[in-house]
Amino acid sequence: MAPREEEIRALLERAGQSHLLRFWGELGQAQRDALLEELALLDAEELGAHCRRAAEACAREQGPCPERLDGRMEPIPPEFLGSVRRSDRGTLERWEAEGLHQISRNKVGVLLLAGGQGTRLGVPYPKGMYDVGLPSRKTLYQIQAERICRVEQLAGEKFGTRCTVPWYIMTSEFTLGPTEKFFQEHNYFNLEKSNVVMFEQRMLPAVTFDGKVILEEKAKIAMAPDGNGGLYRALRDSKILEDMERRGVQYVHVYCVDNILVKMADPVFIGFCVVKGADCGAKVVEKAYPTEPVGVVCCVDGVYQVVEYSEISLETAQMRNPDGCLRYSAGNICNHFFTLGFLQAVAETFEPQLKLHVAVKKVPFVDEEGKPVKPLKPNGIKLEKFVFDVFRFSKKFVAFEVQREEEFSPLKNANIAEKDTPTTARRSLLSQHCRWALKAGARFVNSRGQRIPEKQSLSEDEEPPAVCEISPLVSYFGEGLEKYLKARDLQSPFLLDECRAEALTKPE
Ligand code: UD1
Repeated sequence: MAPREEEIRALLERAGQSHLLRFWGELGQAQRDALLEELALLDAEELGAHCRRAAEACAREQGPCPERLDGRMEPIPPEFLGSVRRSDRGTLERWEAEGLHQISRNKVGVLLLAGGQGTRLGVPYPKGMYDVGLPSRKTLYQIQAERICRVEQLAGEKFGTRCTVPWYIMTSEFTLGPTEKFFQEHNYFNLEKSNVVMFEQRMLPAVTFDGKVILEEKAKIAMAPDGNGGLYRALRDSKILEDMERRGVQYVHVYCVDNILVKMADPVFIGFCVVKGADCGAKVVEKAYPTEPVGVVCCVDGVYQVVEYSEISLETAQMRNPDGCLRYSAGNICNHFFTLGFLQAVAETFEPQLKLHVAVKKVPFVDEEGKPVKPLKPNGIKLEKFVFDVFRFSKKFVAFEVQREEEFSPLKNANIAEKDTPTTARRSLLSQHCRWALKAGARFVNSRGQRIPEKQSLSEDEEPPAVCEISPLVSYFGEGLEKYLKARDLQSPFLLDECRAEALTKPE
């Protein structure tokens, strides 16, 4: 027996996982090497503890009385909750100017969580590469890259500097390779390659209900990313915080890949958090209805956290304030603000205390004879950490409520679903751009030159009356469009990219 094999057999025995080598005799050399390599990454104590924790946490969660948080919850106090809707223009402009100022001093970075498997959307490639069918056929990654570019320009113009917003992208074993390749093929969407930093989160084995690691193939363990809260370990593993420090980044905007309306490095949000002296912040939208399946940001036993709908009773979810708004209405949209100091404290000290969430899933496996099985009901446990579980370590937490139709339209599901699909994402973006064009003084006409009637309130359930797409390279959030669009008749479909914008400013 090779020493490596011997060592790993002993490791598995200590962890109670010897079954992982049950097909050893049937494996060829290459398969044996691959399996040993996978197993060598696991630590015996950690593996044993992981399997025990998974089985216990699952038994607890599936037990007769799931934990309810109703009596222990309080909404976010109003002094810690900013709001776009409830703030006057002057205040919003002050926050925006503060955010742009920080960006202009190279103090802001953005961090994309892109390690998820996107199972609900059902495509075999990373979600960021998805094209929702815009006239430009831009993917989510391209839209995001262009927003970074534009916000750098806006800050630079306002404060007379040249500045950079570095883009950190957390990937996983599933998404790193294809994401890197995609960025290379697209020349990093004209961003400086050295300012796009990709790093990888860890993977954890999936475990059966009785605490045994699942073999997906005879020589392959079923592994899954450790949740978007794996961020904090990955930051340490890949020395990302050192990179931020070296660049002078002090404020980090963390966001998830699937929101087509995401405002990267949003100056208003950053400015609000900086002005309030926060070390940690969350963007939220008003929950649409009591049972909407989004987590709610609130206080539990005096500390901030996101509470899932399943953790509270219907009565609590339905509670309303005297003004008729839901009492627990701060819906989490996975857009977070962190200071570098806070991230350092989490990575160095608090990370091991993060809660492990249990996801019970259907995990493909090989049976006793080594035949592959696709289970029809859940058979395995995946443990995940969540990015927002660090709120409780914050010394000054704030939340910032933004308008859903302007900032939140996630791509979660394939088109067979009703909500959060490629269709709803595309409509949200096109409706927003239509609103921007109308506000800038444009009118839309059809191919026969007939005026298309304006419609102010557009929902994602309907197509906008005119198709209008504005490149993020031309406008980040609807600003500066009058000079191109005022008093113009635009023929639908209309695409305002940089070339078109330039042509529109030339005398006819
Ligand atoms: C997430 C939020 C939820 C919020 C919703 C809004 C978390 C845990 N939940 O839910 O509160 O209401 O967004 O859209 O944040 N990811 C990784 N690594 C992983 C798993 C996920 O990087 O191991 C990334 C995904 O690529 C994605 C983001 O995290 O960008 C969100 O993950 P997802 O699993 O889609 O979370 P949701 O259930 O949609």
